[in-house]
Amino acid sequence: MPYAPKDYSKLIGMNGFTETILKNHFTLYQGYVTNTNKVLDTLDQMSKDGKTATPEFAELKRRLGWEFNGMRLHEYYFENLGGSGGIDKNSKLAQKMTESFGSYEGWEKDFKATGTMRGIGWVVLYLDKETGRLINFWVNEHDVSHPAGCVPLLIMDVFEHAFMIDYGLKRADYIEAFFKNINWAAADARVK
Ligand SMILES: [Fe+2]
Repeated sequence: MPYAPKDYSKLIGMNGFTETILKNHFTLYQGYVTNTNKVLDTLDQMSKDGKTATPEFAELKRRLGWEFNGMRLHEYYFENLGGSGGIDKNSKLAQKMTESFGSYEGWEKDFKATGTMRGIGWVVLYLDKETGRLINFWVNEHDVSHPAGCVPLLIMDVFEHAFMIDYGLKRADYIEAFFKNINWAAADARVK
């Protein structure tokens, strides 16, 4: 069954994000979905045709992580946007933030600092299921660097396409806009 791109057009109109940047971002996301399907189909065909011991098969297998994670991370990103108001201090997520970072504010400071690092990539708040600890990860290229056994709870895209049209080089301003629109209920629902 091919992956179908999800519709996030309800995010249009969100404060701090122009329609232009959101529509561009949706198009980019749809490209990841298309390519995930293409790579999976081609690999499947190569497998059926007995062409697995080839450099083409190996390279496409490597490519799959890039396309699949690009698809899924964008879905998590869009799904943890569209909210308003701050975090519910009684939520499971807020309690875990206090356990791991001392306070919500301690977590926020670290997450924002990670987001303003030089370079492009993603900031992902991960829950380490082994210990219950929360860790803010920097993920550069999204086919690598994801921590095994951890659950992504909150994703912030800091590739330039996520903010440059609206904010130029002022990434901190984009991060402020992102924070004003976090859908905390969606992030909290990911805590398992
Ligand atoms: Fe993106």
